[in-house]
Amino acid sequence: MMVSRKIRRAFVHECGENGTRCCENAFSYLECMPPHEFDAIITDPPYQIGIAGQKWDSKPLPIDWLAYHFHRVLKPNGNVFVFCSDFQFVHWYTELSKYFTNLRKYAWCRSNPMGWIKGRFIESFELGLHACGPDAYFDKSRPYRNHKVTGTCAGRERIKPDADEEKGKGKGQRSLHPTQKPLELIEELVTALTDMGHLILDPFSGTGTLAEAATKLGRRYAVVEFQYRYHRAASRRLKNHDLKST
Ligand SMILES: C[S@@+](CC[C@H](N)C(=O)[O-])C[C@H]1O[C@@H](n2cnc3c(N)ncnc32)[C@H](O)[C@@H]1O
Repeated sequence: MMVSRKIRRAFVHECGENGTRCCENAFSYLECMPPHEFDAIITDPPYQIGIAGQKWDSKPLPIDWLAYHFHRVLKPNGNVFVFCSDFQFVHWYTELSKYFTNLRKYAWCRSNPMGWIKGRFIESFELGLHACGPDAYFDKSRPYRNHKVTGTCAGRERIKPDADEEKGKGKGQRSLHPTQKPLELIEELVTALTDMGHLILDPFSGTGTLAEAATKLGRRYAVVEFQYRYHRAASRRLKNHDLKST
């Protein structure tokens, strides 16, 4: 699939102690990256299901283009992990298997699923896919299952809109991002798929969960998010670790 060339290059680029946060379109970012730059890509791209009425989750995702560039920017012994919707799974599997020999499904199981519709199973897990080559890094110090059970993001972990965005929108309880992933889940993936000091890319980073997990675990990160309000939330989240902003 062709990706539009009209996309503007970075308009905000911040350097934290452990990585960079770009407010930019993921496609133009990936296109400009040199080959073999990252040790891992751990990402949660749009599911194309229009979650909570979000436009960014409704557009077609060029999975073939992304699989090609993920492989291109990854080191030869690197790992790719993508979360995806049910109908995207086969597409991701097909495209990533053109470049990687080892593919394994993964499930994030929610211990507190919402939305009971009488007469149907309650939707309580989301799919992910891990892809790598035969020599890829994997933490062998303990066994990892290909599923993880956690609660959805709640309480203090759930990022709220900042004070400016709150104005006129009720009493500050609203969460900022509809699909913020739990830190515990992303931390497990970071631990299993990367070593200390490794550089991890998340080109669809939302509130910066991957950046926080990487920082906590002594890895480096590059995160990209095209919506300024989410990018800014990630910066707020990471501010204690930052040395400088440019
Ligand atoms: C599923 S959410 C990621 C949520 C993230 N895992 C978290 O914990 O906050 C996907 C994100 O990708 C962003 N996005 C969608 N299309 C993009 C694009 N072309 N370039 C950069 N970011 C994009 C959306 O704004 C959204 O925040």
